[in-house]
Amino acid sequence: MSAPTLKIGLAGFGNVGAGVYRNLEKNRKLLCERTGYHLEISRIAVRNREKARLAEAPTELFTENLSDLLDDPEISIIVELIGGTDQAFDLIKGALERGKSVVTGNKALLAERGRELFAIAEACDRPIHYEAAVAGGIPIIKAMQESLIANHIQSVTGIINGTCNYILTRMFEAGLSYETALAEAQELGYAEADPALDISGWDAAHKAIILASLSYGRWVPCDQIHVEGIENIRSEDVNFATTLGYVIKLLGVIRLHSETRSIELRVQPSLLPVRHILASVKGVFNAVAVQGDLVGETIFYGSGAGADPTSSSVIADIADAAMWTRPNPGSGLVTHSLYGDTLPIGDSISKYYLRVDAEDRPGVLARIAAVLGENEIGILSVIQPEEHEADTAPIVLMLHYAPYRRILTALDQIALLDCVRGRPILMRVEDVG
Ligand code: HSE
Repeated sequence: MSAPTLKIGLAGFGNVGAGVYRNLEKNRKLLCERTGYHLEISRIAVRNREKARLAEAPTELFTENLSDLLDDPEISIIVELIGGTDQAFDLIKGALERGKSVVTGNKALLAERGRELFAIAEACDRPIHYEAAVAGGIPIIKAMQESLIANHIQSVTGIINGTCNYILTRMFEAGLSYETALAEAQELGYAEADPALDISGWDAAHKAIILASLSYGRWVPCDQIHVEGIENIRSEDVNFATTLGYVIKLLGVIRLHSETRSIELRVQPSLLPVRHILASVKGVFNAVAVQGDLVGETIFYGSGAGADPTSSSVIADIADAAMWTRPNPGSGLVTHSLYGDTLPIGDSISKYYLRVDAEDRPGVLARIAAVLGENEIGILSVIQPEEHEADTAPIVLMLHYAPYRRILTALDQIALLDCVRGRPILMRVEDVG
């Protein structure tokens, strides 16, 4: 075939990097037919050659110097898969300044320094492609940048961390404890190198910040997103949720409050009715529900992690970057500063699930109900199982719509009651869409 060759520098050769190399080779002919280029990885930068997966690519491609990629004038696309926020930032900045296109899957970097990076990209008139940064193989970035461009985005609700979804699914379906399910997820290699990022909710938070930037043209600072992880969910919450007809999912919620022009942005474990379509998203799968004013609700579903699905997104970005090498690429950069503020988390409203472990004696339920009443919080339903351990009884209350601030005040007061044991567990009941 007489197609021209486009040279690519790949930085990082972990699971995803090796998957990108393998699958570019595997689908080389198809990609050439579709893009009009031979896409060739001509250098691979790794931290330590001794520890690199040298058997998975020709050894002469490997280098420990990122400058071998940056300073090679024949390389026109840099793929950043090294992770972290410092060296990766310098690599991307260096690539843009040298007129190279960039592909990255680094959600933490974009969430923390996206504003800076896109300013550099605009100044250099070079693109940054980042399909792999959110929800692995699901093409949600391009869908929001291109296919949904005609819509005012009203909300985005996503299951965007495969590790947490795997853990919660195993707790619900196999009755595993949180600890056993986490150990299983780690054994299967789903968790990030530092699993704390997954279970604390921060991996999902980084992705939610990126989705918010696509929805509302604004990079929300990391200290303005409310983030809770799944560490405190116990088997009894799983059992109560099941009894009540719900599942628990770690959700990223991005919602526009048009009257105040503020954005609600949060990641929290939340109860979803078992009949809701997102409730059926299981294991490491992710799903993102986008509500637009013209399109209504759309749902994007697929593998949120794993080398092959994520490489599908990285290679799509490489193909996109190849298009940019043409004289009229016709693709735009994301705009900034469309909306002003982030909604204070205390002002966000929902229904709630509250579990209180309390002494099993007369009057306890009345005291808890009194605190809720004083805070103008309505009770939708109450469960207290007859069978429970010793003299401590779990009381589960489903609470009516109320601002989060008011619920937290009530929670603090309930936690101080002398009949209450430990910190009560609170989760939102989510209205999706
Ligand atoms: N550790 C992430 C997850 C995969 O579990 O979803 C890539 O973001």
